[in-house]
Amino acid sequence: MKAVVYKGAFEVGVEDVPDAKVQEPNDAVIRITTTNICGSDLHMYEGRTSVEEGKVLGHENMGIVEEVGPGVTRIKVGDRVSVPFNIACGTCRNCETGWSSFCLRTNPTEGMDGAAYGYANMGPYDGGQAEFLRVPYADFNLLKLPAGTEHENDFTMLSDIFPTGWHGVELSGQQPGDTVAVFGAGPVGLMAAHSALLRGSSQVFVVDKEADRLALATKIGATPIDLGQGDPVQQILDATNGRGTDRGVEAVGYQAHDPSGEEHPELVLDNLVQVVRTTGGIGVVGVYMPQDPGASSDLAKEGRIPWQYGQFFTKGQSMGTGQAPVKRYNRQLRDLIIAGRATPSFIVSHELTLDQAPEGYSRFDKREDGWTKVLLHPGKAA
Ligand SMILES: NC(=O)c1ccc[n+]([C@@H]2O[C@H](COP(=O)([O-])OP(=O)(O)OC[C@H]3O[C@@H](n4cnc5c(N)ncnc54)[C@H](O)[C@@H]3O)[C@@H](O)[C@H]2O)c1
Ligand SMILES: [Zn+2]
Ligand SMILES: [Zn+2]
Repeated sequence: MKAVVYKGAFEVGVEDVPDAKVQEPNDAVIRITTTNICGSDLHMYEGRTSVEEGKVLGHENMGIVEEVGPGVTRIKVGDRVSVPFNIACGTCRNCETGWSSFCLRTNPTEGMDGAAYGYANMGPYDGGQAEFLRVPYADFNLLKLPAGTEHENDFTMLSDIFPTGWHGVELSGQQPGDTVAVFGAGPVGLMAAHSALLRGSSQVFVVDKEADRLALATKIGATPIDLGQGDPVQQILDATNGRGTDRGVEAVGYQAHDPSGEEHPELVLDNLVQVVRTTGGIGVVGVYMPQDPGASSDLAKEGRIPWQYGQFFTKGQSMGTGQAPVKRYNRQLRDLIIAGRATPSFIVSHELTLDQAPEGYSRFDKREDGWTKVLLHPGKAA
C-alpha cells in the first residue's frame, strides 16, 4: 500500500510499504478516507523529535472498516469510523478512569505512558497517512459515525484537534460566562476557540501573528489579537479594563516564537500567567518535550523551561497539561456536529491526494498564507 513516510528533516516521501493487517484478535483494519496533517506532525517534520526514518506518519484518521480480527464484536466491516489518535487498551487504571491518552499498556517506550499512530516516542504503530491503518483494541477505540459521506470534513476533526481544543478549555476550568484567552490560532487554537464559544464563554481572545488564521477566529465570533501589533498581554488587559481573562489556553507548544521568528519556549506560558486573573485557570495542550536536542539553550535541550512559576503561584492559578483523552469527548462532539451546532470544518483550507502530501507538509509547515488545515484523501486520484 502507499503511505507517507518520514525521510529526515523537512522531507517526507510517498512510498510503497507492507499492507496494514490484522495482527491481534482485537485489531481492525481501516480503509482511510480522510487523514489530516497536524501541527504535531510538524515537530517531526522539522527534525525536532527522535522519530526514526521510515516511520509511516499520520494520527488524525477516519475511514471505513475493511477487516476485523476474531475478537472484535462491536465494530463491523463496512462501519464508518473515527479513529482517536490515542491507542488505548480500555482496561488499565488510566483508561478506566477516562485517561486513554495515558494508557499504561500500549506504549513500550521507557518512561512514556500513552500511545499514538505514526508518532515519535508514542509506540511502534504505523500512522494513517496511508491507504490502510491497523487499529488495536478496535472495539474500545473506534467511534462509529453515520454511514455515507456527509460531514466528512467535520468528522475528520474528531480524531484529534476538536477534542484537543475542547480539552484545553476543560483543563482551564472554563464556566459559562467566562472570558478566555487562547494563544495560537493554528488548528488546535481555533478548535479551542470554537469550543470555548460553544461552551458559553462571554468573550474569547485568540492570539497569533498569522492574518489568515486570525481572520478565521474573527469569523467564528472570537476577538483576534495580532501579536505583531504589540504585546498581546497588554492588548488583552486593555480590552478587559485591566482585569485580564478568567481562563487561558496554550495551543502553541515548545516552538513558540516572537514576531521575528526567534524561539522562546517559555514565552506563551509567561503570557498566560500574566493575562489570566488571580485564581484563574490555564489549560496547556500545546506540546512540550522531555528532551529537545534541537533547542537553542542547554536547559531547553533537557526539557527545562524557566517560566514565571513564582507569579503563577502568587496569583493562585491552576494549570492542566498533556495529551488529550479523545474518547472522553468525541461522542458528544460528533453529536454536536450532527445536530448542526458545531462545524469544525471551518478551518479546512486544502484537500489533497496522498501523492501531494510532500507539498502539503512543506506549505503548511511554512504557515503559507491560506494553508490553515490540510486533509489528505488516500482514495482519490490526483
Ligand atoms: N495535547 C494534545 O493532545 C495535542 C493534540 C494535537 C496537537 N497538539 C499540539 O498543539 C500545538 C498546536 O497545534 P496546531 O496543529 O494548531 O499547530 P500550528 O503549528 O499550526 O499552530 C501553532 C500556531 O501558534 C502560533 N504561534 C507561534 N508562536 C506564538 C506566540 N508566541 N503566541 C501566539 N501564537 C503563536 C503560530 O503562528 C501558529 O499559527 C502543537 O504544539 C501541537 O503539537 C497537542
Ligand atoms: Zn494531531
Ligand atoms: Zn489502557
